[in-house]
Amino acid sequence: MIKGFSEQVLNNFEKASATYNSKAELQQTVALHLARECAHLPIPAGFWVDLGAGTGLLADALEDGHPGQKVLRIDGSQGMLARQKPDCASQQWDLNEGLPSWPQAPALLASSFSLHWLKDPPTRLQEWITALAPEGWLALAIPVEGSFHQWHQAAATADVHCTALAMPSQASLLNAIPAQSIRKQELLEITQQTAKVLELLKPMRDLGAHTSPQAGLNVGQWRRLEQAWQRCQETGRAQLTWKIQVLLLKR
Ligand SMILES: C[S@@+](CC[C@H](N)C(=O)[O-])C[C@H]1O[C@@H](n2cnc3c(N)ncnc32)[C@H](O)[C@@H]1O
Repeated sequence: MIKGFSEQVLNNFEKASATYNSKAELQQTVALHLARECAHLPIPAGFWVDLGAGTGLLADALEDGHPGQKVLRIDGSQGMLARQKPDCASQQWDLNEGLPSWPQAPALLASSFSLHWLKDPPTRLQEWITALAPEGWLALAIPVEGSFHQWHQAAATADVHCTALAMPSQASLLNAIPAQSIRKQELLEITQQTAKVLELLKPMRDLGAHTSPQAGLNVGQWRRLEQAWQRCQETGRAQLTWKIQVLLLKR
């Protein structure tokens, strides 16, 4: 029986949980960036939550920047939650079911590299803002449409389907939130480069971030994709560009 997409997403992260941290260079960079942004905000102390916390990269960076503040780590994968540093509170929960009901409203909801894995990200985003305590903040980093243009272009040239996950558009996210709640928005553009196309895409599998609603490519299609992938003129290396929307929202 074919598993539902969301179940496959969680299974793949579960399987990769032991190796995730050793491969999550980009995720670590973005988590540190988001935590540094939060360090400049007047976020009330209290109940702080990391949604789709994984192994806790963002939650750890937030706690480092705010001594004494604890961050609850929520994730659908028990394996990911088992990798937290000692003495952390965590909760296994499927975020496609909405937010858990907590005894107090969160003063901070933070999330990095997770919202795009959920069904209907704009609706989830609306739900997260509504759940905040008065004066509460939402700090978000999410890859958006426009990411991976080299991959899409190579697939079109090679006449094979593109197995990259479709990312939500910036507009769909921004339209889902009250304009007055936006205190900062920024689009990070990060390009990874490697000698071989395979080296560019393999880390996604090692991270558990390779689930796709599209069927995988066969060997012939993969070879055509690799050949069609444009190289950087100066370095001759293959490139993959991420566009990551950072949003800092106040209730
Ligand atoms: C790419 S990882 C990001 C983890 C962490 N935020 C980071 O930046 O390293 C995505 C995380 O989202 C979690 N996730 C995916 N779908 C989920 C769902 N439906 N409910 C809860 N967590 C989910 C995965 O288990 C995984 O830990």
